Amino acid sequence: MKTLLIVFHTGGVKTAQMAEAVERGARAAVSESGGVNVVVKRCAEAGPDDVLAADGLILGTPENFGYMSGMMKDFLERVFYPCEGKVNGRPYALFVGAGQDGSGAVSSVERIVAGLRLEKKSEPIVGLKELTPEILEQCEQLGAAVAAGIALGVF
Ligand SMILES: Cc1cc2nc3c(=O)[nH]c(=O)nc-3n(C[C@H](O)[C@H](O)[C@H](O)COP(=O)(O)O)c2cc1C
Repeated sequence: MKTLLIVFHTGGVKTAQMAEAVERGARAAVSESGGVNVVVKRCAEAGPDDVLAADGLILGTPENFGYMSGMMKDFLERVFYPCEGKVNGRPYALFVGAGQDGSGAVSSVERIVAGLRLEKKSEPIVGLKELTPEILEQCEQLGAAVAAGIALGVF
């Protein structure tokens, strides 16, 4: 059975709502195509074994002080060396909850996952200010697309 791992942090509610939408989309796609185990974890609960066991990864973080959240950085620090060289080419995607910017969170995550040689499968979704139905819809579509890609083996 293939596995899609969704790892996120939230200090409030926004990134959690985005994560729920990503998971909803992924589970909907899986119920159609089957064959993918969708695992959702907070950064604090996730570690190298989860990443090594995953066929694809979706990360979600708020932007704090122009960077990814401290908890996402902690997660990536813990998994980087145990996973380096062992996950090359696996698909990843990213969603960010931010106030008015989001670019620092995106670039900081992208720099690190580039070192893991993960392969970006879609442009990051950045939810600014109040979450809109459009952003949540994009999050659902992101989850569905990555889950379907893993299920169908097209990644
Ligand atoms: C300590 C802190 C730092 C923040 N720094 C930024 C920032 O640099 N850029 C930005 O766009 N928003 C910033 N924000 C706003 C958050 O990114 C925004 O409220 C986001 O939606 C929080 O997501 P969450 O509800 O999932 O925690 C900051 C918020 C906090 C609490």
